[in-house]
Amino acid sequence: MGDSVLSGPLWSGRLEGGLHVDVLALSQSLDVDQRLLPYDVAASQAHVRMLGRQGIIAAAEANAIVAALETVVVESDATDEDVHSLIERQLVAALGDTGRRVHAGRSRNDQVATAFRLWCRAHAYRLGLATAELQAVLVARARSDGSTVLPAFTHLQRAQPVPLAHHLAAHGWALQRDVQRFEAAGRSADVSPLGAGALAGSSLPLDPVSVAAELGMSGSFANSLDAVSDRDFAVDLSYACAVCLVHCSRMGEELILWTSQEFAWASLADDVATGSSMMPQKKNPDVAELARGRAGTAIGRLTGLLATLKGLPLAYNRDLQEDKQGVFEQVDATIGVLRMLCLAYGGLTFNAEQMRAAAADGATVATDVAEALVRGGMPFRDAHAEVARRIAAGERFAAPTPEEAIAARQGPGMPGRVGEQLDALESAIAATKALSPPIP
Ligand code: ARG
Repeated sequence: MGDSVLSGPLWSGRLEGGLHVDVLALSQSLDVDQRLLPYDVAASQAHVRMLGRQGIIAAAEANAIVAALETVVVESDATDEDVHSLIERQLVAALGDTGRRVHAGRSRNDQVATAFRLWCRAHAYRLGLATAELQAVLVARARSDGSTVLPAFTHLQRAQPVPLAHHLAAHGWALQRDVQRFEAAGRSADVSPLGAGALAGSSLPLDPVSVAAELGMSGSFANSLDAVSDRDFAVDLSYACAVCLVHCSRMGEELILWTSQEFAWASLADDVATGSSMMPQKKNPDVAELARGRAGTAIGRLTGLLATLKGLPLAYNRDLQEDKQGVFEQVDATIGVLRMLCLAYGGLTFNAEQMRAAAADGATVATDVAEALVRGGMPFRDAHAEVARRIAAGERFAAPTPEEAIAARQGPGMPGRVGEQLDALESAIAATKALSPPIP
């Protein structure tokens, strides 16, 4: 009692006095959701234009509100509960009673769902492009250094020789699935909840379909309760980011191994490597470790979002305010890590001699030797046993060479035909880059 209170939140008519400052501190989300501002402004403009078209407010007032929305900014000393409150406060400050008309037929529940969907749609598009950038770096390195031969592993034990191009392309295909997941997440966000109101729509003659069209969205909600409580679009983007970061983490782990003195297959460019504050000799792959580390945090964010949603009764619940911070953080992390890997792979020096020496140990072609016996008519199990015996007795095979073993693998998707894969990846990258950006 007696602690200072904030007066005048949007909903203050029903309650006496103001909100306790400690409650405001816990419940305010402006520091997080201010990133929605341009998207909320666009959605508010579409809503207000519709109110004007439908005769719910006068055309001149609609025009004035649309224009005033262009001037809304987040002031550094703003203490509003959330970005939606901030926008309405500034409209009222600029336009007086006209500003007080903006919220007709709308609730912050459909408003926040719309702004967050627009944000997710825009960032799903950016994530697709950022992923394509890394694919392009991998393909470029495959073109420049791809004929280098290395032993690919199972169980991190030397298995069979492949060209470096095949190995780099493998990451490119994993990233291509990420591109598809980002595109799917963008489509998932591309439905407008505006008009669902708090949960059950409005008795005013709204036209939600025209609002959706104005926002360039594929359609308007099918059910108002679902529209304000659905966060599947956020889960989809969160999942897509988590999987992409898992791929980046695996690439990071590989950079850590390959640049270790024990492997010495590659070295990082100096501008992405880090040193030690104590050990003068150190050149550390912190960038790759950060890729691995961010993936762990992102997986936690996906789990957190699902946990937020799992117990919610229909329709809107304030728990949903927790939906944004994790997704924002995941998207930032994914874009940052993709960029970092572009720099790391772009500047990597491959130690071709060391890689080839590992592939040419006379054992990685053991399967090829066994298959030669099969071509001569021996059952594979017998051929396997014979080659295993010879290896165990210390024999190493001079033929085929790793290059010959690679050239003999000519099936689709196999290392002997890696050039086709690089062409296909290049077409996929071009298709991603040709997509038109969503507005807003
Ligand atoms: N800041 C809130 C959120 O992000 C906006 C919706 C608030 N609605 C409410 N009925 N209190 O979810």
